Amino acid sequence: MAESPGSENLNARVAALRQQIQEHNHRYYVLNDPTVPDGEYDRLMRELEALEREHPELDDPDSPTHRVGAKIEDGFDSVVHHTPMLSLANAFDDEEVAQFDQRIRDQLDLDELNYLAEPKLDGLAISLRYQHGRLALAATRGDGRTGEDVTANVRTIRSIPLTVSDSGLPEQFEVRGEIFMSRSGFAELNQRLKRQDEKPFVNPRNAASGTLRQLDPAITADRPLRFFAYAAIDLEQDQDSSPQTLTCQSAVLQRLADIGFPVSPLVQSVSGLQGLLDYHARIADQRDALDYDIDGVVYKLDDFEQQLEMGYVSRSPRWALAHKFPAEEAITRLRDIDVQVGRTGKLTPVARLEPVFVGGVTVTNATLHNLDEIRRKDVRVGDQVIVRRAGDVIPEVVRAMVERRSEDLAEWQLPSHCPVCNSRVEQVEGQADARCSGGLVCAAQRKRALEHFASRTAMDIDGLGSKLIEQLVDQELVHDLSDLYGLDVETLTSLDRMGQKSAENLAASIDRSRRPQLGRLLFALGIREVGEVSAQLLARHFGTLDALMAADTEALQAVDEIGPIVAGHVHEFFNEAANRAVIQKLLDAGVEWQAEAVRETGSRPLDGKTFVLTGRLEQLKRSEAKGRLEQLGARVSGSVSKSTHALIAGADPGSKLDRAESLKVPVIDEADLLELLAGLEQ
Ligand code: IVH
Repeated sequence: MAESPGSENLNARVAALRQQIQEHNHRYYVLNDPTVPDGEYDRLMRELEALEREHPELDDPDSPTHRVGAKIEDGFDSVVHHTPMLSLANAFDDEEVAQFDQRIRDQLDLDELNYLAEPKLDGLAISLRYQHGRLALAATRGDGRTGEDVTANVRTIRSIPLTVSDSGLPEQFEVRGEIFMSRSGFAELNQRLKRQDEKPFVNPRNAASGTLRQLDPAITADRPLRFFAYAAIDLEQDQDSSPQTLTCQSAVLQRLADIGFPVSPLVQSVSGLQGLLDYHARIADQRDALDYDIDGVVYKLDDFEQQLEMGYVSRSPRWALAHKFPAEEAITRLRDIDVQVGRTGKLTPVARLEPVFVGGVTVTNATLHNLDEIRRKDVRVGDQVIVRRAGDVIPEVVRAMVERRSEDLAEWQLPSHCPVCNSRVEQVEGQADARCSGGLVCAAQRKRALEHFASRTAMDIDGLGSKLIEQLVDQELVHDLSDLYGLDVETLTSLDRMGQKSAENLAASIDRSRRPQLGRLLFALGIREVGEVSAQLLARHFGTLDALMAADTEALQAVDEIGPIVAGHVHEFFNEAANRAVIQKLLDAGVEWQAEAVRETGSRPLDGKTFVLTGRLEQLKRSEAKGRLEQLGARVSGSVSKSTHALIAGADPGSKLDRAESLKVPVIDEADLLELLAGLEQ
């Protein structure tokens, strides 16, 4: 075909656009570090689309404009893997990891081994074949030998390069890794599905798997799949090796990252058994904070020659091991559903379960959230259910195994009256939550209110736990918050499991709580939707309790970050005669709030610094230390990480001290802290 004048320029422009778009994709989806605004990216994309439309002869199936292809008509083709996709041997405790390390050291006759440690991503394994620099085939693992051709769907994943340009690469190679969905992407997707009256997915892994097996790539393109690469195979060399004869796993991952593939940032080189176990502990610590699910870590002997020498046993390599975290889901029987009444009267159905070991602890109760959830999950008493406990979160019933239900089980009904005070249960149209209408008449609501009042972030009354509150309310010693300040040592010693010494300590800590910062007092009152932060903002803004109590909703909304809903709750709370009476009684009982110190911006010398407290402080209360640090702009966190500014260690410090030392985080004691505070608080 005769080329029209200027076609050289045109060719160059199209090539440049494709190149730029690919680079922006890489920066955005792989490095999380875009260098152009979205508008600029869209402009490049539109220009390329227009040129390709006007000049069909320049079109290219691997152009970034063709991520989303046509529907797949007759299901997925099978693909025989060039090299089988293997599985990993599992270890569930340190002992099994020690045996793994010992076995290799014995066989290789070495004292200490170098490993590459990686997170074990909870998604689906995928094999990506590149031919002449182009993504030619993407296949699922299937049974390890034969998988399914899901190329059309994988092409829609923006972090997976459609082309790789590097002259040093073999003509044919495969990149293997895991496709998964982030937790946030999963939550958003499920919200969307619910809005469209479609069935939500049970967990991110199922969502990733369902999405990858969509017959319409347009649907896949619209759902947030992610990918991390963890292996490469050079198909030219016809053996387990890597592009460009690299000699170890760490070099392969580095190279994959260099040519544009996403690689987990948590991958680390470690040595020896202790290195493996430390890595496991480190990743376990970070697990909850990650935006994607991992179910353990994987250890791989780094050196390929050593790998070759170790070989394989059945379907798994002897040079790798998956060190799993305790399972987060388990199956058990639902014995009964009880109803708990919360601080604001909200009724929460609670599952009573046959005890089951999950997420590292034995679980007997789990939340069912509300009636809507029970209906949606079709959970019935007597069912086998899946229980989930991730990290420190409250265990929940994920779903009923309806497929195992053998007999007719009745649907569960919400009680019409509060199980504690027998007041009517109210269910507002269009709202999922049902509430007990009893207010502070309801003993359950009073108990929860007292627990909240006494809690560490509220009035911080040491030693006043839920068991004691239970007794105080049941024996009618405490009716409202202010009655706490009328308790004497003698009354306290009359309680179950309360000796003279503990009674004296409790009386002293009740006494000490009489001078709270205004923000804390406000938070402690338990106004709906008023958390620690909004309480403090309100306190700072109004300065005094009287001013706050007198404010109308308009004045309340003048506070930064206080919207109409919170303003409405605050206003309503202070207008309720019963609440005003309790506040008056608190003041009469000697509770004296303290004005919030207002620091000018610019005088927050600890801004951006994070501190962690451990052990017992002798001179300061923990809450005071925390409050004063925060006043100076610091954040006080519960766990030590590399970015912790300092660990403040009191007497009998816990494991946080070991962790700080291993991460080389500075450790200071209480005297240092006092000195630091004194120096900064003028
Ligand atoms: S390596 C020869 N590395 O775990 C070893 N697998 O049981 C092959 N997985 O099907 C796998 N994260 O889906 C490897 N960093 C990681 C992994 C990982 C998750 C999955 C993968 C595989 C299964 C093996």
